[in-house]
Amino acid sequence: MPDNSPEPQAVIAPVTRSAIFIVATLAADEAGLDTVRAWCADVAALVRSVGKRVPAGNLSCVCGFGSAAWDRLFGAPRPAALHPFREFGAGERHAIATPGDLLLHIRADQMDLCFELATQLVGRLGAAVTVVDEVHGFRYFDLRSMVGFVDGTENPAGREALEFTLVDDDPEFTNGSYVVVQKYLHDMDAWNALPVEAQERVIGRTKLADIELDEAVKPSSSHSSLTTLVEDGQEVKILRDNMPFGRPGSGEFGTYFIGYARSPAPIEQMLENMFVGKPPGNYDRLLDFSRAVTGGLFFVPSADLLEALAERDPQAAEAGAGEDAAAAASPAPAPVSAAAPDGSLNIGSLKGTTQ
Ligand code: HEM
Repeated sequence: MPDNSPEPQAVIAPVTRSAIFIVATLAADEAGLDTVRAWCADVAALVRSVGKRVPAGNLSCVCGFGSAAWDRLFGAPRPAALHPFREFGAGERHAIATPGDLLLHIRADQMDLCFELATQLVGRLGAAVTVVDEVHGFRYFDLRSMVGFVDGTENPAGREALEFTLVDDDPEFTNGSYVVVQKYLHDMDAWNALPVEAQERVIGRTKLADIELDEAVKPSSSHSSLTTLVEDGQEVKILRDNMPFGRPGSGEFGTYFIGYARSPAPIEQMLENMFVGKPPGNYDRLLDFSRAVTGGLFFVPSADLLEALAERDPQAAEAGAGEDAAAAASPAPAPVSAAAPDGSLNIGSLKGTTQ
């Protein structure tokens, strides 16, 4: 990465013990939009102030903006691949879109750090937003998901994680990312009634030792098969940091899915494979025990751009960019299929691109 390239937000943060996920919608008034824009310049300082209180606490925050919110807050130019969350579904299975203009992904090794930062960030937004979903996630033993399997094993790491998550083909948005979130609720009684060997065929890995099942026994409907993408002979990965959450007293057992990528396309392809099936009908059996109750796609600007966005005037930008801006302000959501017209995932070559 050249030295003068924008600093990314903390997308590639270490796996932590705790996380808070907040999704909010914007208020209707112009004063609210002014507040949110001004807030963009304050986020980094608030993370620093709260984080300094526990230097080893790994506190970080990633902020993302939904498609309609981007236009209202910042106008043109807009991130090339930002659009409303695409819904996928067949039969009983639906990846639904739910309202959301702003996403906060707060991570730390202590919940008090996450809690304090969430309090500061949301407090400063005040009446400019309405929080529509807030989930407090925790690490479950040795990085196990709510369904008892280790989660995150096949995540890219190091340089590979940067290559798979940072935008490098949209010059105004270099080192930004796209992020999809979905809140899943599990039917744990039904899941726990499955013998472990059957659960392992659903996930595609062994439960205790977290080893990938042999290709000879791993069904093509397994979660790991349907979420493994290969394009031009190369695997296309995303970066996940799912967190279990729940309220046992209310019978709530959930997984908060969060996936970062340099384009929404690979995540959308995975969702289509899981919900519709590959081929259609050969769907992810994890969905027989899990229901998505939220869904959102957000663009995460680089940290430098986030700060600069405080100065944006969407009207001025639109006037300057003329018709292009008007066209970009109301992108039509594409239908269920995530693939580009040429059938590719439209994610560009990962090799040989300048970082
Ligand atoms: C792998 C759990 C939803 C994408 C895994 C693994 C587990 C898991 C246990 C195996 C270990 C690992 O490599 O991380 C879950 C649960 C979900 C969920 C409990 C919610 C009900 C999703 C969604 C996507 C996704 C919605 C994408 C849109 C992936 C990918 C892998 C994976 C890419 C790695 C596949 C590989 O390379 O082998 N997940 N997952 N997961 N999951 Fe999920």
